[in-house]
Amino acid sequence: MNSLASLMVALVGLQVMLSSGTAIAQIVLATTSIPTYVLDYAPLIWLYSQDAYRPSDIGQQVVHTLPEVNRTVIETPPLNLNNLDILNNLGNTSVYLTSKEGINADPQPAWLDGVTPNAQGKTEGAVSCAIVVYEHGNGTVDAFYFYFYAYNLGDTVLGMEFGDHVGDWEHNMIRFENGTPQALWYSQHSYGQAFTYDATEKQGKRPIGYSGNGTHAVYSIAGDHDHTIPGFNLPEGLIVDHTDQGVLWDPIQSAYAYSYDATTQTFTPYDTSYPVNWLYFNGQWGDDQLPNQTEIFGQTKYSAGPNGPKFKKLVREEVCPSSPCIVLPFRTWKEES
Ligand SMILES: *[C@@H]1O[C@H](CO)[C@@H](O)[C@H](O)[C@H]1NC(C)=O
Ligand SMILES: *[C@@H]1O[C@H](CO)[C@@H](O)[C@H](O)[C@H]1NC(C)=O
Ligand SMILES: *[C@@H]1O[C@H](CO)[C@@H](O)[C@H](O)[C@H]1NC(C)=O
Ligand SMILES: *[C@@H]1O[C@H](CO)[C@@H](O)[C@H](O)[C@H]1NC(C)=O
Ligand SMILES: *[C@@H]1O[C@H](CO)[C@@H](O)[C@H](O)[C@H]1NC(C)=O
Repeated sequence: MNSLASLMVALVGLQVMLSSGTAIAQIVLATTSIPTYVLDYAPLIWLYSQDAYRPSDIGQQVVHTLPEVNRTVIETPPLNLNNLDILNNLGNTSVYLTSKEGINADPQPAWLDGVTPNAQGKTEGAVSCAIVVYEHGNGTVDAFYFYFYAYNLGDTVLGMEFGDHVGDWEHNMIRFENGTPQALWYSQHSYGQAFTYDATEKQGKRPIGYSGNGTHAVYSIAGDHDHTIPGFNLPEGLIVDHTDQGVLWDPIQSAYAYSYDATTQTFTPYDTSYPVNWLYFNGQWGDDQLPNQTEIFGQTKYSAGPNGPKFKKLVREEVCPSSPCIVLPFRTWKEES
C-alpha cells in the first residue's frame, strides 16, 4: 500500500468509527454547505429526568393526526412533510393537525412520548430538530435550532393542570458575527431570555440548554424556574418549570437543515433529502382547544396546538423576537415576561 492508500483506509476506518458511535446525521450535515460554525456551536439540551414527553419525529406528527377545521376532518390526499402546505388552501391557519385518539384519550397513545435520546444523545429514528439559517447579508448570521415534541404537558397550579397541548415547538437562536457566536435566545412559553454567548454554560464550545419538565421551555440554568402565565398574575412561585441534568440530547444529530431567504420567504434545504413544504404550513401542529372545559382564572387544562417555525420571527433586528432586547451577561433563574 502506498501512503495515500493507507491514509484512505485510515479515513474510512475513522468514518466507520464515527458513524457507528456519534453522529451519522451530523456527518451528513457537515458535508453540506451549512456554515460549519452552525454545527460547531450547536446547543446541547438536558431533558428533565422524569419527563415522559421526549423529542419526537416531525413527520410522525402528520402520520398520527388528521387535519380538522372547525372540528371536522377535511378531505385531502395522503399527507406528509412534502405536501403539508396544501392545507393552506383548505383552511389556512384554521387547520389543526388533530390526534386520531383525541387529546383527552386515556390512556394516552405512546406516540406522544417521543423518543428518548440514546447514549450518544441522538433521537434514533426520529428527526426531532430543524435548523434554519438566516444570513442578514452584513456578516450577521442567525441560526435557529427548532426542537419538536409531540406533546406539551402544562404546569400544575394548585392541583390543576394548565395548558396541555398536542405539538410543541421550542427553539434556541444563536446570533453569529463573522462566524463568532455573540448571543443566544432561549424560548420559554410566550417569550424567553437572551444571554451573551460568554454567559452560557458550555460543553466545549457548545452552549447548554435545560428543557422544562413537560413544557419544554428552554432555560440556561438547571433548577426550578418561576414563570408567569401571560394575561393574569399569580403569586410568585406558584407556577414552576423544573429542569435538571436528566438525559442529554444532541438535537443536530437527527435534524433537517435549511437556509431562509427573507425576500422571497423561501426555505432551501442544505440536502435534497430534507422535506421542505411542511415549513410553509400555516396551520397548527396539534388539536384545537377542547370545547366546554372548566375554566379557572380563564385557563383550561387543554389548550390549542401551536404553529410552526416560520411564525417564530425568523427575521429579527436583535437576538430577541421583539424590543426591548435585554441580553444578559450572566445567567439567572427568572424568565423575562
Ligand atoms: C415531571 O413530569 C412527569 C410527567 O411527564 C410527572 O410525572 C412528574 O411528576 C413531573 N415532575 C415534577 C417535579 O413536576
Ligand atoms: C367555522 O364555523 C363557524 C361557525 O359555524 C363559521 O363562522 C366559520 O366560518 C367556520 N370557519 C371555517 C374556517 O370554516
Ligand atoms: C394564510 O395565513 C397566512 C399566515 O398567517 C397569512 O399570511 C395569509 O394571508 C393567509 N392566507 C389567506 C388566503 O388568508
Ligand atoms: C358545549 O356546550 C354547549 C352548551 O351546553 C352545547 O350546546 C355544545 O354542543 C357543547 N359542545 C360540544 C362540542 O360538546
Ligand atoms: C446586520 O443587520 C442586522 C439586522 O439589521 C443588525 O441587527 C446587525 O447589527 C447588523 N450587523 C452588523 C455587523 O452590522
